[in-house]
Amino acid sequence: MTRLSDFVANRSLEQIYDEGWGPAVLDPFAEDFKNYVSAGDVVLDVGCGTGIVTLLAAEAAGPEGQVVGIDPTGFLLDRARSKTPAYPVKWIDTNVEDMPFDENTFDVVLCHQTFQYVEDPAAGMAAMKHVAKQGGTIAVSVWSPVEMQIPVRDLEDLIAQHISPEVSTLHAFSFGGLDKLSGLASDAGLDVRFAGTVSKPTEYDSVGACVELMLAGAGRPLPDGSLGMGLFDLEDPAYERGVEDLIAALEIRWADYTRNGRLIVPYFTDVVVAQKQ
Ligand SMILES: C[S@@+](CC[C@H](N)C(=O)[O-])C[C@H]1O[C@@H](n2cnc3c(N)ncnc32)[C@H](O)[C@@H]1O
Repeated sequence: MTRLSDFVANRSLEQIYDEGWGPAVLDPFAEDFKNYVSAGDVVLDVGCGTGIVTLLAAEAAGPEGQVVGIDPTGFLLDRARSKTPAYPVKWIDTNVEDMPFDENTFDVVLCHQTFQYVEDPAAGMAAMKHVAKQGGTIAVSVWSPVEMQIPVRDLEDLIAQHISPEVSTLHAFSFGGLDKLSGLASDAGLDVRFAGTVSKPTEYDSVGACVELMLAGAGRPLPDGSLGMGLFDLEDPAYERGVEDLIAALEIRWADYTRNGRLIVPYFTDVVVAQKQ
C-alpha cells in the first residue's frame, strides 16, 4: 500500500468529496450561497453534486419553499439523495443544458463551482436565465484563476518535478476569470448586481493532508471511460518517493501558512450575482 492508496482505502470518490473537499474547501464558500435564498423561495441548484449547497438552500427556503438539485453525474446525485435535508428536496439527473423546467419557474438559481465544467457556458447562462422568474436571482461561482490559488499554483509548480509532467490539478481552475463570468451574465441580458472575488481560509490537518486530498481525492478519466480515483495510479510505488519529496518541499514553501502543524491557506472564488429583469 502507498500513502495515497491508504488515504483512499475503502472510501468512494463521493465520500472523499464530502468528507475531504467539503469541510476543507467547499463548505466555507457554500455557506455564502445560503444568503441568496429567503424563506418560501423556489430554488434550483445547478450541478448540485453531493448536495452541499442544496441542503443549505433547503434550510433557508424552509417548509414553505421548494428546492430542486440537478446534476448529470449519477454517483454524486446518489450521494445527495442519501442525505436528509431539513425540508424535502427534489433531485433530478440532468445537466443545465437539458433541464426540464418551464420559463419563469425559480426565484433563485444557484450554480456553485459547476459552471467551469459546462461545455457551452453561454448556453448554460441562457438556460439558467430562462428558468428564473422575472426579478429572480442567479448566483454563479467559479474558482479564480490558478495564479491566485496558492495550494494549486504551488502544487502545480512542483508536481512535474516530483511526480510527473503528465499530472495536473488545473482543470477546475481554467474557467477564465471574473470578467468572463460577469460578461456571460451581461451578454445573456441579466442585470449584474455583484461581481467580485471572494477569499476564504481553507484548512487541513497538515500539509501532507492537503497534498493527499489534492492528489488522491480527485478523479481522472480512464481509457475505458470510467472515472479513476486520484490524479495518477495511486497504487504505483514508483510515485511514493516523489509524493514524500513534494510534501517536504511544500512544508518549507507553506511555512507561513502553517500553525501548530495545521495548514490554513486562502482560496479565491469569482462570484456573480445577477437578476433577471
Ligand atoms: C465540483 S462539483 C460541484 C458540486 C456542488 N455544486 C458543490 O459545490 O459541491 C461540479 C459538478 O458539476 C456537475 N456538472 C458538470 N457538467 C455539468 C452540466 N453541464 N450541467 C450541470 N452540472 C454539471 C458535475 O457532475 C459535478 O457534480
